[in-house]
Amino acid sequence: MNRIGLSAEQTKEVAEHLDQHLANLHVLYTKLHNYHWNVEGPEFFTLHAELEKQYDAVAEEIDAVAERILMIGHRPSASLAEYLKKAQLKEAESAPIRGKAVVEELLADYSTLIAGLRAGIKAAQEIGDEATADLMIGSLAAYEKTVWMLQAYLR
Ligand SMILES: [Fe+2]
Repeated sequence: MNRIGLSAEQTKEVAEHLDQHLANLHVLYTKLHNYHWNVEGPEFFTLHAELEKQYDAVAEEIDAVAERILMIGHRPSASLAEYLKKAQLKEAESAPIRGKAVVEELLADYSTLIAGLRAGIKAAQEIGDEATADLMIGSLAAYEKTVWMLQAYLR
């Protein structure tokens, strides 16, 4: 045991969930910029602005997730090579893209993130790591709201 009452051995699996999430977030961060620049069509202004809001939120989340990994006694991945190897999300090519395709692609990515968070929350709660669970629940709630809005956009 240590000063936070959770040993590094106990938190190993939780740290792996967080690190996978961190890798996914880096791909999402780049992808949101890609679409912010490359989206074309009548939805340009709407999506251009919305995607900027989303990548700003992802930037803050990246820092919070990496620092949480350190707090529970592990070291976050910190190179693009590691992120690309660990991430489940796939990058997009730099090419013009229509608004509907952007939103469909992001819905799939947020679904992947949500599934990962649910597994991470369960793992954190199982070892009594409530602060990590709380961090992930906060992200989960934000993504569920984003999914709702993206789905509304497609209707
Ligand atoms: Fe911009």
